[in-house]
Amino acid sequence: MNTPKSNTKKKSGCFNRREFLFTSGVAVSGSILLPALPGINTEALAAETIGYPRKKIGRLSKLKNNEPMYFNYPDDEDNSSSILLKLDEKAGGGIGDDGDVVAFNILCTHMGGELSQYQAADKALGPCPFHQSTFDLTRHGMIISGHATESLPQVLLELEGDDIIAVGLLGLIYGRHQNLS
Ligand code: FES
Repeated sequence: MNTPKSNTKKKSGCFNRREFLFTSGVAVSGSILLPALPGINTEALAAETIGYPRKKIGRLSKLKNNEPMYFNYPDDEDNSSSILLKLDEKAGGGIGDDGDVVAFNILCTHMGGELSQYQAADKALGPCPFHQSTFDLTRHGMIISGHATESLPQVLLELEGDDIIAVGLLGLIYGRHQNLS
């Protein structure tokens, strides 16, 4: 387990793949389908996995409800800091018997503030220390309040026995033109 790293890079791209995938509802090559949630306007979400590393980020049996673990994905750059959580509530893209294990990049999509505060009661990440954006971790990181307009990038997860494997990303990490270098 490691701790979140700070980010100093500026956002320079405006590519919004998540928005396209949410509204198109189509699967693309090298993608996986995520189950839909009430209030999300598609039957399934397609998220990219092609080219992404498969990285073990934890063990299901070691997770405790609402206790964050930190890791980096898809590489070890500063802005790849991510959080792994067992929410104790079914979530979009969640894995495990209860569908409640999720992971997200923790840089705010507005201007890259580091989201270090998890609100267990609301299953939310934030408020951002810069402009108070807060994100719903049960709904693919959708914005709840604040200045951000895009959801948090969700790390796509698979289970291999007890091992939790990161396999891809839904959304663009703040400060990058593309997630993979
Ligand atoms: S950087 Fe997070 S709300 Fe502005």
